[in-house]
Amino acid sequence: MISGWMLGACGGGTAGEDVASDVATSGDTSLEVAADIEPEVDEDVVDPIIPLPTIEGLVALVDENPDPTIVEVRITAQPADVQLTAGDPTAMLTYNGLVPGPLLHARVGDRVIVHFTNALPADTTIHWHGLRIDDAMDGSPMIMAPVPPDGTFTYDFVVPDAGTFWYHTHLHQIQQLERGLYGAIVVHEAEPPAFTAERVVVIDDIRLDDDNQVAPFVASGPDLMAGRAGNMLLANGAQAPTRVTTARGGIERWRIISASNAIEMGLEVSGADVRLIGTDGGLLPEPLPFTRVEIAPGQRYELEVRPHAEADEVVLNARVLVAAPGGGVTEGTFALVRAAIEGDTTATEPVYPTVVLPAVDVAPHESLEWEIGAVNVAGKVQFTIDGQSMFVDDDEHVTLHEFVQGMPVLITITSTVSPRHPFHVHGQFFQIIERNGRPVSDEPGLRDTVQIRGAESATILSYMENPGQWMVHCHISEHGENGMMADIMVGPHGGHGSH
Ligand code: C2O
Ligand code: CU
Repeated sequence: MISGWMLGACGGGTAGEDVASDVATSGDTSLEVAADIEPEVDEDVVDPIIPLPTIEGLVALVDENPDPTIVEVRITAQPADVQLTAGDPTAMLTYNGLVPGPLLHARVGDRVIVHFTNALPADTTIHWHGLRIDDAMDGSPMIMAPVPPDGTFTYDFVVPDAGTFWYHTHLHQIQQLERGLYGAIVVHEAEPPAFTAERVVVIDDIRLDDDNQVAPFVASGPDLMAGRAGNMLLANGAQAPTRVTTARGGIERWRIISASNAIEMGLEVSGADVRLIGTDGGLLPEPLPFTRVEIAPGQRYELEVRPHAEADEVVLNARVLVAAPGGGVTEGTFALVRAAIEGDTTATEPVYPTVVLPAVDVAPHESLEWEIGAVNVAGKVQFTIDGQSMFVDDDEHVTLHEFVQGMPVLITITSTVSPRHPFHVHGQFFQIIERNGRPVSDEPGLRDTVQIRGAESATILSYMENPGQWMVHCHISEHGENGMMADIMVGPHGGHGSH
């Protein structure tokens, strides 16, 4: 179902535009297509512009548009065999044949045009997780018609915020996300601080069978109740750790994205001095001391990493709950990145841009409480927000609340049952203010996803600055697709205004 309120209300996009004619119809991947195109650059028209910083770790999409303020790329969702381990390749679903999909990077304020082709045998959409864009371009299956097999869609939006984001399927997510339909997005600051290297690390866990194939999906039991956890960690699409080299004396920026379906990881770094510099919504007002952060599905963290002079390697570790030998659970340590320290370099101190977070000591416009949980309906588990369930595939649609654009609002999300719920709000940022009624001081910065750990509550403050119709849901696919998903409306008059 598509809300009549949204249709035609958002303008500016190219929703539904038929781009079949300029999208390759062969089995070529977009990367191959793009390599054949030599954009003609007219020196008189194009401003000399500082090139985007190089991001190590992922293949970047090729920008086919010579205009320095427009990034125009091609993404095709397609099945492909991917070498995840040293063993047999794994049949995956990919963007352009890659897991993760190719890196989309742009400068804040750029227009991004993505010519998308669906070469999967199933419907799909792409959601640009964390980008505060026009809702018609957000990939919400509640707004846009799903892109059918062999269909195309042109996503066209302006990236308003610098930071680390990601893109992923927003349909049949239980299977499509696990099978690899995700990729990284980096939006560079207008004047990006300089580092000796910038890396992106997309972390995931996947459950493979003995033949190295994605293990069968189970729609009940622990997989349903806690979400499907993997039996192998992936870093940038290969069995972790990924191995890189770094230099003594360097100062690096590491952007870490969790594409996991269900598991939370504690991130720790050895062999370097590390500061926390960014969260879901971009850079912090100032770098903070770092020892460990918990990264929940959907979340991002940015670290400033200075290799120790006397160390041989810098290691990014994940601390993950695993089965204990004698029963119960224990925390295991798994290397995600091993960066061998080779040679020396000299770095200048990065100059961070001025970042001011929205005030939290304001009188909120309203205070809401959403209880999240599960109910048993005729022997079938349904997950709920505020007692309501939305089923994406059945087009059941729930509008949870209408917000006044730009008015600070406090939302207390309370879970009464044990599984964790990484709760995500599309199209907006928020700050985490309280947990269980107590002020929070160790979860700084702007967020779009907050982890609710079992029976607890978290209170978030958002200014709901981006008008439109937005999804709110648990990022564990089994929970979201079994009902823990709804829409909110944000508009000048509390939702049903124009924008
Ligand atoms: Cu990354 Cu609606 O999700
Ligand atoms: Cu959940």
